[in-house]
Amino acid sequence: MKISIIGCGNMGTAYARSFRKYGLVQAEDLCMVIRNPERRSQLERFGQVLTSIGPEVQASDLVIIGVKPQDFASIAPALATRLSPDQVVLSIMAGITLAHLKEALGHANVVRAMPNAPAQIGMGITAYATGAELNMRQTLMVEQLLNCTGRAIHLGDEALLDPVTALSGSGPAYFFEIVRTMIEKGIELGLPAHVSSALVKQTMLGSFHLMEHADRSPEELIKAVMSKGGTTEAAFRVMQEEDLAGTLGRAIGAASVRAGELGR
Ligand SMILES: NC(=O)c1ccc[n+]([C@@H]2O[C@H](COP(=O)([O-])OP(=O)(O)OC[C@H]3O[C@@H](n4cnc5c(N)ncnc54)[C@H](OP(=O)(O)O)[C@@H]3O)[C@@H](O)[C@H]2O)c1
Repeated sequence: MKISIIGCGNMGTAYARSFRKYGLVQAEDLCMVIRNPERRSQLERFGQVLTSIGPEVQASDLVIIGVKPQDFASIAPALATRLSPDQVVLSIMAGITLAHLKEALGHANVVRAMPNAPAQIGMGITAYATGAELNMRQTLMVEQLLNCTGRAIHLGDEALLDPVTALSGSGPAYFFEIVRTMIEKGIELGLPAHVSSALVKQTMLGSFHLMEHADRSPEELIKAVMSKGGTTEAAFRVMQEEDLAGTLGRAIGAASVRAGELGR
């Protein structure tokens, strides 16, 4: 299989690294198109590095678009001239719809995917929607490639990518915000910074694994930690008074609305 990646920042590089790590593509069959030539030396160990969309891209079975959505217009005309009908184009750009991809590239075989930041260490989750023209073989190829950055979930309805973006796409940032807030509060309450950081990070890690292994719902796990008149109950009273659940829900709703706006 031959693969081209247009735009090798955080995510594009993660794909290049994972494809090579799992042997899904040979170095000579992986082509990375970058804008800043200074990045060449960091990427050359994965495959061939180009500074413009050349004929090598035309020979690829799969072309991944890993630029920011606002940069799509600057690459679309050049990419459109390099596409042949059998190729699959996979976009990870937030908010760029399948219809927009098809129109801007003049190409039918398109896939729109929403990965998330942990894909950079092979622990991401990617939801994706395919254009109606994609056949089963092409869909399986995409799923296999996405799986090497974590898990992949096929969506029958492209519109679901808006809530996906709000949950798993932006989700790591919500998690980091909670971690950051807890660490800062620990320091404010008198803990040395490294102790507060270790306590919070290990608590998050341990709680995740407990949730995965305990076969109990998040509600049941909360009840198991909370005792009547205790510390957790005191914390939850404040969270309820301040409507933390409502705030988080509204934040996720706003992200989903914004994802829809970006697609229009
Ligand atoms: N990061 C996430 O957690 C996440 C999650 C879900 C989806 N996404 C999507 O993934 C895409 C990439 O995100 P990212 O975090 O990897 O962004 P990033 O680190 O900024 O990477 C984008 C890369 O595209 C390059 N680029 C821009 N224009 C180019 C051009 N004309 N030719 C070649 N390369 C070009 C940029 O080059 P320069 O270095 O010169 O700027 C940069 O290296 C975005 O569309 C985003 O919506 C990201």
